[in-house]
Amino acid sequence: MAIKVCVFDAYGTLFDVTAAARQAAEQPGQAALAEIWPALAADWRAKQLEYSWLRAITGDHVPFWQVTQDGLDWAMEKAGLDDPELRELLLALYWELAAYREVPMMLATLKAQGLCCAILSNGSPDMLEGAVDHSGIGLYLDAVLSVEDVGVFKPARAVYDMVGARFGCSADDVLFASSNGWDAAGAAAYGFRTVWVNRTGLPQDRLMAQPHHVLTDLTSLPELV
Ligand code: LAC
Repeated sequence: MAIKVCVFDAYGTLFDVTAAARQAAEQPGQAALAEIWPALAADWRAKQLEYSWLRAITGDHVPFWQVTQDGLDWAMEKAGLDDPELRELLLALYWELAAYREVPMMLATLKAQGLCCAILSNGSPDMLEGAVDHSGIGLYLDAVLSVEDVGVFKPARAVYDMVGARFGCSADDVLFASSNGWDAAGAAAYGFRTVWVNRTGLPQDRLMAQPHHVLTDLTSLPELV
């Protein structure tokens, strides 16, 4: 089947989730953060995701912005950073995460090939709007789909159902790309053709299904369509 719709995870796939901690560490007066920002960014991301999965399992949903703040509070306490101003700075920067360098050209190429492009993300609609606006990629996107419309986080099947509902397509019309191995596995099990964007050379997750393609970034994704 020919692919008609290309769907992207947002955080870590289109937008660099480490950028907030890195940019905060570059600011004057952030010597303590400059020492440890990679660990803080990793702990923040790990807890944000862990909380999303646990809330999906228990049915105790809150918007992604809440688990993003909860994850940051845990990571800052672990790092011994008791600094409300830094917390506000990190959260403000998360609202304006940069897109990875190859993203605008990759999306422009897909649009020129006649494909529909969309985001399907755990992110709250306002968070996603902030990142899309800041990175200037909105003109390439036919839809920005947030799990808030179904009230459960990925990899629940109800989230992947949103693509067919929005585009009136079947699962095998869809190419889904995510840098999260667990998200790529969930999407592949659902029936999407799937790309795992393995930016950091991680081992493949042992989960319910394997991705059809593995790339190190998104540059060559249009060649798969
Ligand atoms: C998202 C997270 C999982 O954008 O990266 O859905």
